[in-house]
Amino acid sequence: MEILAFGVQADEKPLIEEAFAGHHEVRCLDVLLNEDTAPIAAGHEIVSSSVNAELGGRVLEILAAGGTRMVAQRSTGFNNIDLDAAERLGMTVARVSYYSPYAVAEFAWTLAMAVNRRIVRASIRTRDFDFRLDGLMGRDLHGRTAGVLGTGKIGEAFARIAHGFGMRLLGWDIAENPACMQLGMTYVPKEELLAESDLITLHVPLMPQTQHLIDAAALKSMKDDAILVNSSRGGLIDTAALVAELREGRFTGVGLDVYEAEAGLFFLDKSLEAVDDDTLARLVTFPNVLVTSHQAYYTRDAVGQIVETTVKNVLDYRAGRRSENVLVPRS
Ligand SMILES: NC(=O)c1ccc[n+]([C@@H]2O[C@H](COP(=O)([O-])OP(=O)(O)OC[C@H]3O[C@@H](n4cnc5c(N)ncnc54)[C@H](O)[C@@H]3O)[C@@H](O)[C@H]2O)c1
Repeated sequence: MEILAFGVQADEKPLIEEAFAGHHEVRCLDVLLNEDTAPIAAGHEIVSSSVNAELGGRVLEILAAGGTRMVAQRSTGFNNIDLDAAERLGMTVARVSYYSPYAVAEFAWTLAMAVNRRIVRASIRTRDFDFRLDGLMGRDLHGRTAGVLGTGKIGEAFARIAHGFGMRLLGWDIAENPACMQLGMTYVPKEELLAESDLITLHVPLMPQTQHLIDAAALKSMKDDAILVNSSRGGLIDTAALVAELREGRFTGVGLDVYEAEAGLFFLDKSLEAVDDDTLARLVTFPNVLVTSHQAYYTRDAVGQIVETTVKNVLDYRAGRRSENVLVPRS
Protein backbone atom coordinates (compact mmCIF):
# COMPACT_ATOMS: atom_id res chain seq x y z
CA MET A 1 0.00 0.00 0.00
CA GLU A 2 1.20 3.53 -0.79
CA ILE A 3 1.08 6.09 2.01
CA LEU A 4 0.87 9.73 0.92
CA ALA A 5 2.85 12.06 3.15
CA PHE A 6 2.10 15.81 2.91
CA GLY A 7 4.26 18.71 4.07
CA VAL A 8 7.57 16.83 3.92
CA GLN A 9 10.70 18.98 4.18
CA ALA A 10 13.68 18.05 1.99
CA ASP A 11 15.85 16.88 4.89
CA GLU A 12 12.94 14.96 6.42
CA LYS A 13 12.25 12.93 3.25
CA PRO A 14 15.08 10.36 3.56
CA LEU A 15 14.14 9.71 7.20
CA ILE A 16 10.52 9.03 6.20
CA GLU A 17 11.48 6.80 3.27
CA GLU A 18 13.93 4.84 5.42
CA ALA A 19 11.41 4.33 8.23
CA PHE A 20 8.67 3.04 5.89
CA ALA A 21 11.07 0.79 3.92
CA GLY A 22 10.05 -2.87 4.23
CA HIS A 23 6.57 -1.89 5.45
CA HIS A 24 4.82 0.31 2.90
CA GLU A 25 5.55 2.44 -0.14
CA VAL A 26 5.57 6.12 0.76
CA ARG A 27 5.22 9.14 -1.55
CA CYS A 28 6.45 12.40 -0.06
CA LEU A 29 4.96 15.74 -1.14
CA ASP A 30 6.28 19.11 -0.03
CA VAL A 31 2.84 20.76 -0.24
CA LEU A 32 0.86 21.16 2.98
CA LEU A 33 -2.42 19.32 3.35
CA ASN A 34 -5.30 21.78 3.00
CA GLU A 35 -8.50 22.28 1.00
CA ASP A 36 -6.57 22.91 -2.24
CA THR A 37 -4.27 19.90 -1.92
CA ALA A 38 -6.60 17.32 -0.31
CA PRO A 39 -7.90 16.03 -3.69
CA ILE A 40 -4.36 14.71 -4.43
CA ALA A 41 -4.99 12.07 -1.75
CA ALA A 42 -7.82 10.42 -3.70
CA GLY A 43 -7.30 6.66 -3.70
CA HIS A 44 -4.98 6.69 -0.66
CA GLU A 45 -6.38 4.92 2.39
CA ILE A 46 -3.69 6.44 4.63
CA VAL A 47 -2.29 9.97 4.52
CA SER A 48 0.30 11.52 6.80
CA SER A 49 0.08 15.23 7.64
CA SER A 50 2.47 17.74 9.14
CA VAL A 51 2.02 20.17 12.00
CA ASN A 52 0.68 23.02 9.85
CA ALA A 53 -1.84 20.95 7.88
CA GLU A 54 -5.32 22.47 7.84
CA LEU A 55 -7.48 19.51 8.79
CA GLY A 56 -10.83 21.21 9.26
CA GLY A 57 -14.16 19.51 8.53
CA ARG A 58 -14.15 20.40 4.81
CA VAL A 59 -10.66 18.95 4.23
CA LEU A 60 -11.57 15.77 6.11
CA GLU A 61 -14.72 15.43 3.98
CA ILE A 62 -12.65 15.71 0.77
CA LEU A 63 -10.23 13.08 2.10
CA ALA A 64 -13.04 10.73 3.14
CA ALA A 65 -14.76 11.12 -0.25
CA GLY A 66 -11.46 10.12 -1.90
CA GLY A 67 -11.25 6.95 0.19
CA THR A 68 -8.93 8.05 3.00
CA ARG A 69 -9.64 6.20 6.25
CA MET A 70 -6.63 7.15 8.34
CA VAL A 71 -4.66 10.34 9.05
CA ALA A 72 -1.23 9.89 10.65
CA GLN A 73 -0.33 13.32 12.03
CA ARG A 74 3.43 13.86 12.44
CA SER A 75 3.22 16.07 15.55
CA THR A 76 2.16 16.08 19.19
CA GLY A 77 -0.23 19.03 18.95
CA PHE A 78 -3.52 18.38 17.13
CA ASN A 79 -5.29 21.73 17.47
CA ASN A 80 -5.30 21.86 13.62
CA ILE A 81 -7.57 18.78 13.32
CA ASP A 82 -11.37 18.78 13.64
CA LEU A 83 -11.61 15.56 15.65
CA ASP A 84 -15.43 15.66 15.80
CA ALA A 85 -15.60 15.76 12.00
CA ALA A 86 -13.09 12.90 11.74
CA GLU A 87 -15.16 10.83 14.18
CA ARG A 88 -18.36 11.59 12.26
CA LEU A 89 -16.67 10.49 9.02
CA GLY A 90 -15.51 7.25 10.66
CA MET A 91 -11.82 8.04 10.21
CA THR A 92 -8.87 7.07 12.38
CA VAL A 93 -6.56 9.90 13.47
CA ALA A 94 -3.29 9.22 15.27
CA ARG A 95 -0.58 11.61 16.46
CA VAL A 96 2.89 11.31 17.99
CA SER A 97 2.23 11.72 21.69
CA TYR A 98 5.91 11.57 22.67
CA TYR A 99 9.24 12.57 21.18
CA SER A 100 12.38 14.28 22.40
CA PRO A 101 11.27 17.17 24.64
CA TYR A 102 14.93 18.28 24.55
CA ALA A 103 14.63 19.45 20.93
CA VAL A 104 11.97 22.02 21.85
CA ALA A 105 13.38 22.95 25.27
CA GLU A 106 16.87 23.50 23.84
CA PHE A 107 15.40 25.64 21.05
CA ALA A 108 13.42 27.73 23.56
CA TRP A 109 16.76 28.37 25.28
CA THR A 110 18.36 29.21 21.95
CA LEU A 111 15.73 31.91 21.40
CA ALA A 112 16.09 33.20 24.97
CA MET A 113 19.87 33.50 24.72
CA ALA A 114 19.82 34.90 21.19
CA VAL A 115 17.53 37.79 22.15
CA ASN A 116 19.25 38.36 25.49
CA ARG A 117 22.76 38.55 23.99
CA ARG A 118 21.70 40.24 20.70
CA ILE A 119 23.20 37.44 18.59
CA VAL A 120 21.35 38.28 15.36
CA ARG A 121 22.44 41.93 15.44
CA ALA A 122 26.02 40.90 16.35
CA SER A 123 26.17 38.46 13.43
CA ILE A 124 24.87 41.04 10.95
CA ARG A 125 27.45 43.56 12.22
CA THR A 126 30.49 41.29 12.06
CA ARG A 127 29.59 40.19 8.52
CA ASP A 128 29.79 43.90 7.69
CA PHE A 129 33.11 44.25 9.58
CA ASP A 130 31.39 46.48 12.16
CA PHE A 131 32.91 45.40 15.48
CA ARG A 132 31.32 47.92 17.89
CA LEU A 133 29.62 46.66 21.04
CA ASP A 134 27.04 49.47 21.30
CA GLY A 135 23.55 48.00 21.52
CA LEU A 136 24.77 44.46 22.21
CA MET A 137 24.61 44.52 26.03
CA GLY A 138 22.73 41.58 27.55
CA ARG A 139 22.14 40.40 31.11
CA ASP A 140 23.47 37.50 33.22
CA LEU A 141 20.70 34.99 33.82
CA HIS A 142 22.45 33.42 36.82
CA GLY A 143 20.52 34.42 39.95
CA ARG A 144 17.55 35.72 37.96
CA THR A 145 14.07 34.14 37.86
CA ALA A 146 12.73 31.82 35.17
CA GLY A 147 8.95 31.39 35.00
CA VAL A 148 7.74 28.22 33.28
CA LEU A 149 4.07 28.16 32.23
CA GLY A 150 3.35 24.47 31.62
CA THR A 151 5.70 22.13 33.44
CA GLY A 152 5.10 18.93 31.46
CA LYS A 153 7.81 17.17 29.46
CA ILE A 154 9.15 20.24 27.62
CA GLY A 155 8.69 22.62 30.54
CA GLU A 156 10.63 20.22 32.77
CA ALA A 157 13.48 19.93 30.24
CA PHE A 158 13.58 23.75 30.05
CA ALA A 159 13.62 23.98 33.86
CA ARG A 160 16.58 21.57 34.09
CA ILE A 161 18.62 23.85 31.83
CA ALA A 162 17.49 26.93 33.82
CA HIS A 163 18.64 25.14 36.97
CA GLY A 164 22.03 24.65 35.34
CA PHE A 165 22.21 28.39 34.72
CA GLY A 166 21.64 28.95 38.45
CA MET A 167 18.21 30.51 38.04
CA ARG A 168 15.40 30.66 40.58
CA LEU A 169 12.46 28.64 39.23
CA LEU A 170 8.77 29.54 39.31
CA GLY A 171 6.14 27.27 37.77
CA TRP A 172 2.47 27.42 36.84
CA ASP A 173 0.44 24.40 35.77
CA ILE A 174 -2.81 22.63 36.61
CA ALA A 175 -0.67 19.70 37.84
CA GLU A 176 2.58 20.04 39.81
CA ASN A 177 5.54 18.07 38.44
CA PRO A 178 7.57 16.49 41.29
CA ALA A 179 10.73 16.46 39.11
CA CYS A 180 10.48 20.25 38.76
CA MET A 181 9.93 20.65 42.49
CA GLN A 182 13.09 18.61 43.10
CA LEU A 183 14.94 21.22 41.05
CA GLY A 184 13.66 23.82 43.53
CA MET A 185 10.72 25.09 41.46
CA THR A 186 8.00 26.88 43.41
CA TYR A 187 4.49 26.72 41.98
CA VAL A 188 2.75 30.10 42.15
CA PRO A 189 -0.38 31.72 40.65
CA LYS A 190 0.09 32.88 37.06
CA GLU A 191 -0.10 36.57 38.07
CA GLU A 192 2.78 36.13 40.53
CA LEU A 193 4.90 34.24 37.99
CA LEU A 194 4.39 36.94 35.34
CA ALA A 195 5.20 39.77 37.74
CA GLU A 196 8.35 38.18 39.21
CA SER A 197 10.02 36.42 36.29
CA ASP A 198 12.92 37.78 34.23
CA LEU A 199 12.49 35.01 31.67
CA ILE A 200 9.01 33.68 30.86
CA THR A 201 8.57 30.59 28.69
CA LEU A 202 5.33 28.97 27.48
CA HIS A 203 4.88 25.19 27.36
CA VAL A 204 1.14 24.61 27.80
CA PRO A 205 -0.94 23.17 24.95
CA LEU A 206 -3.28 25.43 22.97
CA MET A 207 -6.89 24.76 23.92
CA PRO A 208 -9.92 26.99 24.60
CA GLN A 209 -8.77 27.53 28.22
CA THR A 210 -5.26 28.63 27.15
CA GLN A 211 -6.17 30.72 24.06
CA HIS A 212 -4.53 34.15 24.61
CA LEU A 213 -3.16 33.04 27.97
CA ILE A 214 -0.80 35.96 27.45
CA ASP A 215 -3.24 38.75 26.73
CA ALA A 216 -2.86 42.53 27.10
CA ALA A 217 -3.28 42.39 30.88
CA ALA A 218 -0.75 39.56 31.24
CA LEU A 219 1.78 41.44 29.11
CA LYS A 220 1.30 44.60 31.17
CA SER A 221 1.94 42.66 34.38
CA MET A 222 5.40 41.51 33.19
CA LYS A 223 8.61 43.32 34.04
CA ASP A 224 9.53 45.94 31.43
CA ASP A 225 12.85 44.17 30.85
CA ALA A 226 11.52 40.60 30.84
CA ILE A 227 12.39 38.06 28.15
CA LEU A 228 9.37 36.22 26.71
CA VAL A 229 9.70 32.99 24.74
CA ASN A 230 6.93 31.03 23.00
CA SER A 231 7.85 27.68 21.47
CA SER A 232 4.46 26.08 22.14
CA ARG A 233 1.58 27.42 20.01
CA GLY A 234 1.03 30.90 18.58
CA GLY A 235 -2.52 31.21 19.89
CA LEU A 236 -1.22 31.36 23.47
CA ILE A 237 -0.24 35.00 22.89
CA ASP A 238 -2.46 37.90 21.77
CA THR A 239 0.03 39.06 19.13
CA ALA A 240 -1.66 42.44 18.48
CA ALA A 241 -1.39 43.19 22.22
CA LEU A 242 2.28 42.11 22.17
CA VAL A 243 3.02 44.48 19.29
CA ALA A 244 1.35 47.31 21.25
CA GLU A 245 3.65 46.65 24.24
CA LEU A 246 6.75 46.39 22.03
CA ARG A 247 5.87 49.77 20.52
CA GLU A 248 6.17 51.18 24.05
CA GLY A 249 9.78 49.95 24.09
CA ARG A 250 9.11 47.14 26.56
CA PHE A 251 10.94 43.82 27.01
CA THR A 252 14.59 42.88 26.74
CA GLY A 253 13.67 40.37 24.11
CA VAL A 254 10.88 38.24 22.67
CA GLY A 255 11.58 34.92 20.95
CA LEU A 256 8.72 33.38 18.99
CA ASP A 257 8.91 30.03 17.22
CA VAL A 258 5.16 30.04 16.71
CA TYR A 259 2.64 32.67 15.63
CA GLU A 260 -1.13 32.58 15.87
CA ALA A 261 -1.66 33.18 12.12
CA GLU A 262 1.25 30.95 11.02
CA ALA A 263 -0.91 28.54 8.97
CA GLY A 264 -0.41 29.35 5.30
CA LEU A 265 2.91 31.11 6.04
CA PHE A 266 5.28 29.00 8.09
CA PHE A 267 7.15 26.23 6.22
CA LEU A 268 6.54 28.11 2.93
CA ASP A 269 8.63 30.50 0.84
CA LYS A 270 6.66 33.74 0.75
CA SER A 271 9.66 35.91 -0.10
CA LEU A 272 8.42 36.84 -3.58
CA GLU A 273 4.88 37.75 -2.53
CA ALA A 274 3.42 40.98 -1.14
CA VAL A 275 3.17 40.76 2.65
CA ASP A 276 -0.47 40.79 3.70
CA ASP A 277 -0.01 40.14 7.42
CA ASP A 278 0.57 43.57 8.99
CA THR A 279 0.97 42.18 12.51
CA LEU A 280 3.77 39.81 11.55
CA ALA A 281 5.34 42.46 9.32
CA ARG A 282 5.47 44.88 12.28
CA LEU A 283 6.64 42.17 14.69
CA VAL A 284 9.76 41.34 12.70
CA THR A 285 10.81 45.00 12.57
CA PHE A 286 11.51 45.19 16.32
CA PRO A 287 15.22 44.73 16.99
CA ASN A 288 14.49 42.86 20.23
CA VAL A 289 12.19 40.29 18.55
CA LEU A 290 13.31 37.06 16.92
CA VAL A 291 10.77 35.03 14.95
CA THR A 292 11.47 31.52 13.66
CA SER A 293 9.06 29.37 11.68
CA HIS A 294 8.04 26.52 13.98
CA GLN A 295 11.41 24.79 13.91
CA ALA A 296 11.86 23.95 17.60
CA TYR A 297 11.14 20.26 17.03
CA TYR A 298 13.38 20.13 13.98
CA THR A 299 16.35 18.04 15.09
CA ARG A 300 17.51 14.79 13.54
CA ASP A 301 16.67 13.04 16.84
CA ALA A 302 13.15 14.40 17.27
CA VAL A 303 12.17 14.06 13.60
CA GLY A 304 13.59 10.50 13.62
CA GLN A 305 11.38 9.64 16.61
CA ILE A 306 8.34 11.34 15.03
CA VAL A 307 8.78 9.35 11.83
CA GLU A 308 9.31 6.03 13.65
CA THR A 309 6.16 6.57 15.70
CA THR A 310 4.21 7.54 12.57
CA VAL A 311 5.20 4.22 10.95
CA LYS A 312 4.15 2.40 14.14
CA ASN A 313 0.79 4.26 14.11
CA VAL A 314 0.21 3.15 10.51
CA LEU A 315 1.13 -0.47 11.31
CA ASP A 316 -1.14 -0.40 14.41
CA TYR A 317 -4.02 0.91 12.31
CA ARG A 318 -3.48 -1.80 9.69
CA ALA A 319 -3.40 -4.49 12.40
CA GLY A 320 -6.46 -3.09 14.21
CA ARG A 321 -4.40 -2.27 17.33
CA ARG A 322 -5.17 0.71 19.54
CA SER A 323 -2.41 2.80 21.16
CA GLU A 324 -2.14 5.94 23.27
CA ASN A 325 -1.50 7.86 20.01
CA VAL A 326 -5.00 7.31 18.64
CA LEU A 327 -7.16 10.45 18.91
CA VAL A 328 -10.11 9.15 16.87
CA PRO A 329 -12.05 6.91 17.28
CA ARG A 330 -12.21 8.12 20.86
CA SER A 331 -12.92 4.69 22.32
N1 LIG B 1 7.46 24.47 18.46
C1 LIG B 1 7.49 23.17 18.31
O1 LIG B 1 8.16 22.66 17.39
C2 LIG B 1 6.75 22.26 19.27
C3 LIG B 1 7.03 20.90 19.27
C4 LIG B 1 6.40 20.06 20.18
C5 LIG B 1 5.45 20.55 21.06
N2 LIG B 1 5.16 21.88 21.02
C6 LIG B 1 4.14 22.43 21.96
O2 LIG B 1 4.59 22.22 23.29
C7 LIG B 1 3.45 21.91 24.09
C8 LIG B 1 3.88 21.20 25.35
O3 LIG B 1 4.42 19.92 25.01
P1 LIG B 1 4.78 18.82 26.14
O4 LIG B 1 5.30 17.64 25.43
O5 LIG B 1 5.59 19.46 27.22
O6 LIG B 1 3.31 18.50 26.71
P2 LIG B 1 2.94 17.90 28.11
O7 LIG B 1 1.56 17.35 27.96
O8 LIG B 1 4.02 17.02 28.66
O9 LIG B 1 2.89 19.20 29.07
C9 LIG B 1 1.87 20.15 28.98
C10 LIG B 1 1.65 20.72 30.36
O10 LIG B 1 0.62 21.72 30.28
C11 LIG B 1 -0.23 21.56 31.41
N3 LIG B 1 -1.55 22.11 31.09
C12 LIG B 1 -2.48 21.60 30.27
N4 LIG B 1 -3.57 22.38 30.24
C13 LIG B 1 -3.33 23.41 31.10
C14 LIG B 1 -4.08 24.53 31.51
N5 LIG B 1 -5.32 24.76 31.05
N6 LIG B 1 -3.53 25.38 32.40
C15 LIG B 1 -2.27 25.14 32.88
N7 LIG B 1 -1.50 24.10 32.53
C16 LIG B 1 -2.04 23.23 31.64
C17 LIG B 1 -0.28 20.07 31.66
O11 LIG B 1 -0.69 19.78 33.00
C18 LIG B 1 1.15 19.66 31.38
O12 LIG B 1 1.95 19.69 32.54
C19 LIG B 1 2.57 21.07 23.13
O13 LIG B 1 1.20 21.12 23.51
C20 LIG B 1 2.80 21.73 21.80
O14 LIG B 1 1.80 22.73 21.59
C21 LIG B 1 5.78 22.74 20.16
